[in-house]
Amino acid sequence: MEFLDLPQLASAAGNVRLPGSKSISNRVLLLAALADGETEVRDLLASDDTERMLEALQALGVGVTALGGENWRIKGCGGRFPVKQAELFLGNAGTAFRPLTAALALAGGDYVLKGVARMHERPIGDLIDGLRQLGADVTYLGNDGYPPLHLKPATIRPGGTVSVRGDVSSQFLTGLLMALPLTGVETTVDVVGELISKPYIEITLAIMARFGVEVKREGWQRFVVPAGSVYRSPGTIYVEGDASSASYFLALGAIGGGPLRVEGVGRDSIQGDVRFAEALAQMGAQIEMGPNWMEARAPEGGLVAVDLDCNHIPDAAMTLATAALFAKGTTTLRNIASWRVKETDRIAAMATELKKLGAEVEEGEDFIRVTPSAVKPAAIDTYDDHRMAMCFSLAAFATPLRINDPKCVGKTFPEYFQRFAEVTRAAPVIAIDGPSASGKGTVAARVAAALGFAYLDSGALYRLTALAAQRAGVAWDNEAAVAALAAQLDVEFNGEEILLGGVVVGDAIRSEDISAGASRVAALGAVREALLFRQRAFNRLPGLVGDGRDMGSVIFPQAQLKVFLTASAEERASRRYKQLIGKGFSANLPDLLADLRQRDERDAQRSVAPLRQEADAQLLDTTTLTIDEAVNQVLTWFSAVAQ
Ligand code: DC
Repeated sequence: MEFLDLPQLASAAGNVRLPGSKSISNRVLLLAALADGETEVRDLLASDDTERMLEALQALGVGVTALGGENWRIKGCGGRFPVKQAELFLGNAGTAFRPLTAALALAGGDYVLKGVARMHERPIGDLIDGLRQLGADVTYLGNDGYPPLHLKPATIRPGGTVSVRGDVSSQFLTGLLMALPLTGVETTVDVVGELISKPYIEITLAIMARFGVEVKREGWQRFVVPAGSVYRSPGTIYVEGDASSASYFLALGAIGGGPLRVEGVGRDSIQGDVRFAEALAQMGAQIEMGPNWMEARAPEGGLVAVDLDCNHIPDAAMTLATAALFAKGTTTLRNIASWRVKETDRIAAMATELKKLGAEVEEGEDFIRVTPSAVKPAAIDTYDDHRMAMCFSLAAFATPLRINDPKCVGKTFPEYFQRFAEVTRAAPVIAIDGPSASGKGTVAARVAAALGFAYLDSGALYRLTALAAQRAGVAWDNEAAVAALAAQLDVEFNGEEILLGGVVVGDAIRSEDISAGASRVAALGAVREALLFRQRAFNRLPGLVGDGRDMGSVIFPQAQLKVFLTASAEERASRRYKQLIGKGFSANLPDLLADLRQRDERDAQRSVAPLRQEADAQLLDTTTLTIDEAVNQVLTWFSAVAQ
């Protein structure tokens, strides 16, 4: 599986231009397709969900032209799709599936609508019940109440009153409302149960109005689509930035200092999720807003917990659940039942993953309660849910972490992690690589002490792995078995001391025997893979000095300073000789030199993470340098890049 490892973050500030709103993009595309005339859609979101909608419209015979950038021309079909028989694949795009179902059921034709497995677990029965009241002929091809669907031509009986449930997903009501003008007759929609996610209905009504259809609304229970409603192209329409996407950056600013400004949504937005800013302000964040921008800063004393009804910001509220990791007290998010029927069961997913980080979490049918506690590194699963990936990126302010399947952000924000990297600053790393006995361990440890940074002796992990294999009777070239041991290594670094299984290992990992074993196990790809995240988890505040062979090339390619520290083979052999004798081991200089050359060769020639000087690494040859001189050189280089 693909993953993205995030170092612990130090701060966040800057500007982000947001991608277009998913909800607005797919509504605009459908209405432009149903309208009379051509519509130029500007700043459309480029994402999986909008691609599914564009593909579907093309399959239905709608003229779709890419104009370059995120601009498209849609040639409306006046409510009559030219293609009357089609099979449409809509991925996991609820914002395409629901309204297309409604429009196609009323437009007449023979259509099959399918999606990914998760789409087939997301309920649609309430919408179908509404459509059937109008005479639509819909067959469930899988389970009753769920996609895939077969829509057949039917005699539509327009007019009168249709009732639809509003307490599972507002997308059912949105789908019906957007499709009803196709009937040409006044129709009333009665909402059964309390309507959730009302702001999304506001978006629907606002966009329908832009296309010339004014829905009359009586509170949130009754909606009337007047007779003679016809969609007409507004000519050119601009898609607002995505307010839900804004939530991650506002939260980054609120946690990581700020000011962090998002551009593309603001006070004048039609998206309810802009009210996420109010929720963040309740947590103490300093928020400023203009017509189409918002900005967040961290409060003086840190964020505080909130107890909030989130019905009005169902998607952005997820961001509060991970922001809660940084708030004093227990945060409770209520009235979020709709989370359970989204891309995944978001309440369950959120609870499971927050617990992995060490938070205390309580979940109910329609609420989640989060109490932060000591956060620990973890690999976070994202459940093919873009918002899970984006929400958990915030947790990097508390700990280094791994995000599994990060590309799921493509659903709404393919470039999320690029923007994220641009506005955040990570805990610094100094990567010191070099051959055996070059003195890099001593230099690295002293540099770390001088800066107050943590120190990672990555060679020790390979040595410990070799030792653990030896103790378990596993051969050093048994890749799978050694990798399994490496993954489970119960190791603790406690200052100068290293503990394996709770017992101090001392010099047992420094013998020539284990040195040879370490060099062997380090050549195994699966072993290196197993130790990857364990090493990256050291990338915490205030900073890290790591020494090894691949610190700068593989483990911390983003390191602020990379040093390739070496010395002549003779000098290194002589240093090792003195070290061994000093520790009471017996040693022979010519043998040591030969062994060292052999190990250098193996470390440099192996296919995985070979030892080499990176192009962006500083060369430090210590053959004629004292330790102090070497340490001072590294500190001088670092102070130049740390500015
Ligand atoms: O730095 P050291 O001598 O303690 O390393 C022991 C072995 O582990 C050595 O053969 C190289 C290997 N190693 C590695 O492959 N990658 C690292 N990052 C660190 C060490």
